[in-house]
Amino acid sequence: MCIWEAERTFVHDFPSVVVVGLGKKSIGVSDQENWDEGKENIRAAVSVGCRQVQDLEIPCVEVDPCGDAQAAAEGAILGLYEYDEFKKRKKPVVTPQLHGSDGKEAWQKGTIYGEGQNLARHLMEAPANYITPIKFAELVEQKLKAAHSGVKIHIRSKSWIEEQQMGAFLSVAKGSEEPPVFLEIHYSGSANTNDPPLVLVGKGVTFDSGGISLKPSSGMDAMRADMGGAATVCSAIVTAATLNLPLNIIVLAPLCENMPSGRANKPGDVVRAKNGKTIQVDNTDAEGRLLLADALCYAHNFNARAIVNAATLTGAMDIALGSAATGVFTNSSWLWTHLYEASILTGDRVWRMPLFEHYTKQVTDCPLADLSNVGKYSRAGGACTAAAFLKEFVTISHWAHLDIAGVMSNKDEVPYLRKGMAGRPTRTLVEFATRLSQDNQSA
Ligand code: BES
Ligand code: ZN
Ligand code: ZN
Repeated sequence: MCIWEAERTFVHDFPSVVVVGLGKKSIGVSDQENWDEGKENIRAAVSVGCRQVQDLEIPCVEVDPCGDAQAAAEGAILGLYEYDEFKKRKKPVVTPQLHGSDGKEAWQKGTIYGEGQNLARHLMEAPANYITPIKFAELVEQKLKAAHSGVKIHIRSKSWIEEQQMGAFLSVAKGSEEPPVFLEIHYSGSANTNDPPLVLVGKGVTFDSGGISLKPSSGMDAMRADMGGAATVCSAIVTAATLNLPLNIIVLAPLCENMPSGRANKPGDVVRAKNGKTIQVDNTDAEGRLLLADALCYAHNFNARAIVNAATLTGAMDIALGSAATGVFTNSSWLWTHLYEASILTGDRVWRMPLFEHYTKQVTDCPLADLSNVGKYSRAGGACTAAAFLKEFVTISHWAHLDIAGVMSNKDEVPYLRKGMAGRPTRTLVEFATRLSQDNQSA
């Protein structure tokens, strides 16, 4: 049991009481920090309190809503989560409940938001020999079926990908023994099934060794989370379906491994994307943009209201912003405003990055093909040249690319997440979708 305002609660009703300080009252949105500090404080405090209860091996905890039951539930659900699937000694299960009857709906919403992010954390943290492309797709299918009866799922096989002429995606996949999968999910929450959908696209590299441009072995294990884009967009659609959001959403996730083998891409190889553009693969470790090039072309088939892709795309993104915020590259200020406002509420922040022609020139100046998969000044502005590359496969006027490499994992920066894969920015995507659905209704 936790109490946050001890004087209001009868301590003798509960065997144990945890009291946590919340900081200043009614602190609200911080202009400097670009988030709601009050909500962040509640998430952090509740997570600490719940973990204390967990350490005491008490199976149930009542949580004071602290004036914001959604943030309190998020703190509880996110704070208690730990990936211990393969350990004999597991963390005790603690069930958090709302104390009192104020904010029942908000508590429920916060629980669903938190569980959504935890699903992404689970998919990202799981070892790559368990989460192969097909296993990823099957697990997401199982979650979607449990969430909503009206969701359509297509687990497309290699032959379908070949028919679609996704030559860039296939060139990465062919280096591995694991067959690729193209996951396609349709959620029709809008009253009008023909309403233009929000299309979410996620990079799904279930393991990125770098291929022939092999990565250093130290830290390579973290590349089991290189499907973080696919994990967050799939978790977002599961969450949207659970919440019954009144909008149409399509999720597309190209899934494969990036491995070195006799069949793998070689530096200098030229491949052809679905839209006919040729790409010189100068570095086989810049594979994410090859998958996304084809997936983005395909995403244009759905008369989308907006296309948003998420990808653990570049180490350069981590160098630029670290884990403070997801980098957003977008051609649409409308889309930017919605994402930004959503992120202020969730505390899982976004920051706008440039899509200048300056960077485009650095990927189109290529000896053998229309595009090179790395910028000609290689490391300079690496996150921006990657985004400029993706832009070459986009014609829609509302598109955003989210580079989530910097927020992929948590050491101790986000106090309400334990160390490990972070599942960010799932809640921001869900909040963004909620806002679009409200826009829908007022239109
Ligand atoms: N998956 C990586 C990017 C990454 C790095 C994600 C660290 C999360 C943490 C991506 O496929 C990659 O290796 N990108 C290269 C691109 C380079 C070769 C142009 C990189 O960032 O070094
Ligand atoms: Zn790579
Ligand atoms: Zn990668």
